[in-house]
Amino acid sequence: MKRAFLCLLTLTAAAATTAHATTVAEVKKKGVLVLGTDPTFAPFEFKGADGQIQGFEIDLARAVAKDLGVKLDIRAVGFGALMPQSVTSGRVDMAISAITITPERAKVVSFSNAYFRSAQVFIVKGGNPAKVGWPWTADLKGKTVGVQANTTGQFAAQDILKPKGVTIKVYDDFAAGLADVRAGRIAALIGDAPTVADLKKRLPGQFEQAGSPLVAEDYGMVFKKGSDLAAAANQTLARLKSSGEYQKLLNKWIVQK
Ligand code: ARG
Repeated sequence: MKRAFLCLLTLTAAAATTAHATTVAEVKKKGVLVLGTDPTFAPFEFKGADGQIQGFEIDLARAVAKDLGVKLDIRAVGFGALMPQSVTSGRVDMAISAITITPERAKVVSFSNAYFRSAQVFIVKGGNPAKVGWPWTADLKGKTVGVQANTTGQFAAQDILKPKGVTIKVYDDFAAGLADVRAGRIAALIGDAPTVADLKKRLPGQFEQAGSPLVAEDYGMVFKKGSDLAAAANQTLARLKSSGEYQKLLNKWIVQK
């Protein structure tokens, strides 16, 4: 009886961790690369009209899987759970989600080389009725600024804005933060610069960037600490860059200013 119970436990644990693969060899053996991504972040990863998860970084992940000779299995995970728990727990083999390379994160996960230069910016309602500005303007004191949970935007807001008397509202879902900006419920949402250009294109007049960037940053693909998958991803990045495919993907997905 006891043994049967233990056996059941082992089976359940195995089923729950089918994604678990730390090495290139393990991924090749199971024939699939499990990708975790938070698809609320156009043009990097988002759900298209057909419900399919797509975007610049999804194409990058596809290229990594292709070079490994395996299928890509895409799982939608909210950013707060994605970084870093999904990767450290082995629920996904890889995360790609406009993830900023930071020294703190690099202590617990492995990053690929940087592949995209970005920045954290204030996203405000078209016309900037709350007069949000950066560098710091006193107008923000007593106002509420939104951030997505576990993002570098949240870290910057806590470091820079909270001490100045700004109220920080944390969203699990980036889209919910955008909805609150649009409705005027918060003065601004902190987000990644290229998302603003994309919003302007898709929803003309509704959103804009206020002021200059708060912090510059670089994106990396994320793997379990010490995984050789990071080196494999670097090889794919190098291939895409030297073949010109990387530039083609930029042209396809990222709105140029
Ligand atoms: N670049 C920021 C960070 O790494 C935000 C990323 C949010 N990405 C997303 N797909 N929601 O913390």
